[in-house]
Amino acid sequence: MIIRPAKNILGALRLPGDKSISHRYAMLAAIAAGTTRLANFSTGADCASTVACVQQLGCAVRRNQDGTLEIAGREQLQAPASSLDCGNSGSTMRMLSGILAGQNFSCVLHGDESLTRRPMGRIMTPLRLMGAEITAGAGDRPPLHIRGGELRAINYTTPIASAQVKSAVLFAGLFAEGETSVDEPHRTRDHTEQALRAFGVEISRSKNRVTIAGGEKLTSIQAAVPGDISSAAFFMCAAALFPGSNLVIESLLLNPTRASLLDVLKLLGARLSVINLEEHHGELVGTVKIEHSKLTGITIEGAQSVALIDELPVLAAIGPYTRDGIDIRDAKELRVKESDRIALVAKNLRAMGAECEEREDGLRVPGNQKLHGAEIDSGGDHRIAMAFAVAALRAEGESVIHGADSAKISFPEFFEMMESVTER
Ligand code: S3P
Repeated sequence: MIIRPAKNILGALRLPGDKSISHRYAMLAAIAAGTTRLANFSTGADCASTVACVQQLGCAVRRNQDGTLEIAGREQLQAPASSLDCGNSGSTMRMLSGILAGQNFSCVLHGDESLTRRPMGRIMTPLRLMGAEITAGAGDRPPLHIRGGELRAINYTTPIASAQVKSAVLFAGLFAEGETSVDEPHRTRDHTEQALRAFGVEISRSKNRVTIAGGEKLTSIQAAVPGDISSAAFFMCAAALFPGSNLVIESLLLNPTRASLLDVLKLLGARLSVINLEEHHGELVGTVKIEHSKLTGITIEGAQSVALIDELPVLAAIGPYTRDGIDIRDAKELRVKESDRIALVAKNLRAMGAECEEREDGLRVPGNQKLHGAEIDSGGDHRIAMAFAVAALRAEGESVIHGADSAKISFPEFFEMMESVTER
């Protein structure tokens, strides 16, 4: 994909449904009584992997003419006839494992080359403590073999702040006897808690501890998935780069555990406003308007790095265009995402002529730098491809994004939509 420099970002957008919420709604629909109907379901390949797995587990899935997705829940999931293909999706493998741990059958989950490099020990440890038998390849990498069955409740303190790990344990908690609780070092996105409540399950939270009782029954829902804020991040960051930008994003997910980007862009100096706030199934949804102003600089660390984990690549990629730069700390999880995102961000910034300092847990990108177009290596990672498509908009000369096709993992429409709001 060739990206030419832009003059402005102008227009109004409505984005496909949030990836995190789509995964959770599809998984809970599978074990809920009745048929769940979902509008604006994520168009990404990752969520399609979840839907395909749910189908392999015996749930009838239908795509209606109006674009809605219907999933018929089952009282008992069926043992899959073959290995469950999670594709590129860590969320599918980790969160679905929580449900599979509570089923009375054995199954195997595998993924693509990137997923096969990702650590699964983080979910294996608590699910084994609950009584599931799980084995994996060398270094706790996929494929996963799960023998589910009777589970016992646990009180688990996660050593790393991960919403996927929290979700796996809470999902398993549905099938365990007694009360299961999860304590997390920093608060992570709470879509699992909101989705469980929407499907009729009682969940309680006290500080960073979430508790669920086993044996609760789920009831199907009808919902429209709010626009994906991690996808919106690319447009918001692009808009923040140009003096004449004016961009509106409607029906956008604004759950406070996901919307830290708005705070960061404000702190950087961007002009932002939010209107039409509503709540649907516990999720805040609204319209965001963003205009340019001069961007200063920021250090992102601690809880903020956890909250912004998926947006850090694009923030780092616009770092050179700020006045004082962007410093990212406490984000070593970036090294075990779909790619080593710290290494790839540093490599691509340097390819564009920028200076940056790579650290084990993050990177410092000095501000006030001029970038030139370059050959970008996405490493087959969707967020790297899209982050550098944004950086390329303000570079001098054309850039080529290699592996741009990876955008389909979360956001197949990205390049087309970016083009539709780009003025040259
Ligand atoms: C996600 C949680 C995060 C995030 C991923 C989606 C989720 O991963 O990076 O894209 O939907 O729960 P971790 O749980 O590994 O932090």
